[in-house]
Amino acid sequence: MFIFGKKDGKAGKLDKDKLPRHIAVIMDGNGRWAKKRGMPRSFGHAAGAETFRRIATYCKNIGIEYLTVYAFSTENWKRPADEVQAIMEIFEKYLREAIETMERDRVKIKVFGDISVLSPKLRRLIHEAEAISKKYDGVQVNLCVNYGGRDEIVRAARAYAEHYRKTGEELTEEKFSSYLYSAGICDPDLIIRPSGEMRLSNFLLWQAAYAELYFTDVLWPDFTEKELDRAILAYQKRDRRFGGVKG
Ligand code: IPE
Ligand code: IPE
Ligand code: MG
Repeated sequence: MFIFGKKDGKAGKLDKDKLPRHIAVIMDGNGRWAKKRGMPRSFGHAAGAETFRRIATYCKNIGIEYLTVYAFSTENWKRPADEVQAIMEIFEKYLREAIETMERDRVKIKVFGDISVLSPKLRRLIHEAEAISKKYDGVQVNLCVNYGGRDEIVRAARAYAEHYRKTGEELTEEKFSSYLYSAGICDPDLIIRPSGEMRLSNFLLWQAAYAELYFTDVLWPDFTEKELDRAILAYQKRDRRFGGVKG
């Protein structure tokens, strides 16, 4: 079955039967987008949050199961304090609104990352959003906040070491995955990075093993539903072999 991505159809047709189950996005380029407009970087982050909201809704509408977005990395604390604060305020606003509209929008939220260092207010909102999310079906959005792929792996290794000390249970890839923030969620099929950078910047290092990567020069605040269609179309043309051969 085919659906049109957009009314003008320019991005082409998506094959509904070959949609990625899990899309991950490195939401990059907010700062440059703001700079181009002579505005402070925080203006770009606010615009990026709106784009995220639109793309999450679109993912829900076309039937994507998981959308994982990189919002703030373990390295982003290096940024000026006022920028970090502006980003935290945007999370807060987003979570507040998401909690209010969750029943209507059916967008479930989970946060990946070490939230222990976030403000108590933010932690409370995260817990509330996650608790309400458990009641609903729909697209699941994993919001990566104070997330680092290496940090996630080290935490998992520590937790497993503790388990091993008590049980002596053998480690397998599956077992290790169960200690990651993404426990129980399939690996991303497609990872999108806008803004022209071609690197992972510590995003989903374990889970990205066989993800298809898609890069575009579009800055995140300019990313549209049509851009997402383009990325999915490119994905649908890829030949995923997982190390095997096609007969
Ligand atoms: C991504 O946009 C958002 C965060 C990393 C928080 P940037 O702020 O990195 O934007 P650029 O890359 O400087 O344009
Ligand atoms: C990656 O973007 C992190 C997020 C989008 C949250 P960065 O802008 O921090 O990455 P680098 O510094 O260009 O690698
Ligand atoms: Mg950046």
